[in-house]
Amino acid sequence: MFIYPNKYEEAGLSHNPFKAIVSPRPIGWISTRSSDGHLNIAPYSFFNAISEQPPMVMFSSSPKKEGSLGKDSLLNIEDTEEFVVNIVSYSLREKMNITSKDYPREINEFEKAGIEVGQCKTVSVPHVKFAPASLECKLWKTLTLPEKPDGSSTTMIMGVVTGMNIDEGVIKNGKIDVTSYEPLARLGYYDYSQVKDTFSMRRPD
Ligand SMILES: Cc1cc2nc3c(=O)[nH]c(=O)nc-3n(C[C@H](O)[C@H](O)[C@H](O)COP(=O)(O)O)c2cc1C
Repeated sequence: MFIYPNKYEEAGLSHNPFKAIVSPRPIGWISTRSSDGHLNIAPYSFFNAISEQPPMVMFSSSPKKEGSLGKDSLLNIEDTEEFVVNIVSYSLREKMNITSKDYPREINEFEKAGIEVGQCKTVSVPHVKFAPASLECKLWKTLTLPEKPDGSSTTMIMGVVTGMNIDEGVIKNGKIDVTSYEPLARLGYYDYSQVKDTFSMRRPD
C-alpha cells in the first residue's frame, strides 16, 4: 500500500497512520517557568535526544489553535531560555496525562496533578521530584517548521543539557535500569507502551 500524507482516508484508513508508524516515541515531560514565576508542565512526544556531545534534546510544539500564540511551554522557554525534560515512568502516567490538558498560562499544572517539585541546580525551573530522571536544559535555538494548511506552524525547540537528576533507586551496577521504572512511550492513536524488557547486541567489529 502506498499513501500520500493526509490522504489516508482515500486508502481506507480511519486515522492518519504517521504517528503510529513513527513509534514508539519517548515522552519529554517539559517543565518551564514564565518570566513572572508561573510554573508549567506538559508532555511532548515529538521529543528526542539529538546529540550526545554536547548532550542536546529537542521537542516540537504545535500551535494551540489557528491564529493563537504558541503553547505555554514554548512561550515560557522563549522568555526564560530554560526548560527541564522529565522522564515519565509507568507509575506517573496518570499525572502526566492530567498535565496535557490545555490550562490557561497562569495555571500551575504541578499543583493540578499533585506533582511534587524538586530544585534544579543549573536552571531556575523545577523538576518532577519523583521522576526517575530529568534533564536540565538551556535553550539553544528554536526553528519554525513549514506552514500547515491553515497557515500556522509548529516550532522545534532545541536545548543543551546542563545537568541531569537521577533517582539513585533506578541505578543498578553503575547503570540505569529502565525496567525498574518502565519509561512510557507514545504509540499512535490513544495508545502507549512501557519498556519492560531489554536485550543487548554488540556492533560488529
Ligand atoms: C503523551 C502526549 C504527547 C504529546 N505530544 C505533543 C507534542 O509533541 N507536541 C505538541 O504540540 N503537543 C503535544 N501534546 C499535547 C500537549 O501536551 C498539550 O497541548 C498541552 O496542553 C500543552 O501544554 P502547555 O500549553 O502548557 O505547553 C501531547 C499530549 C500528550 C498526552
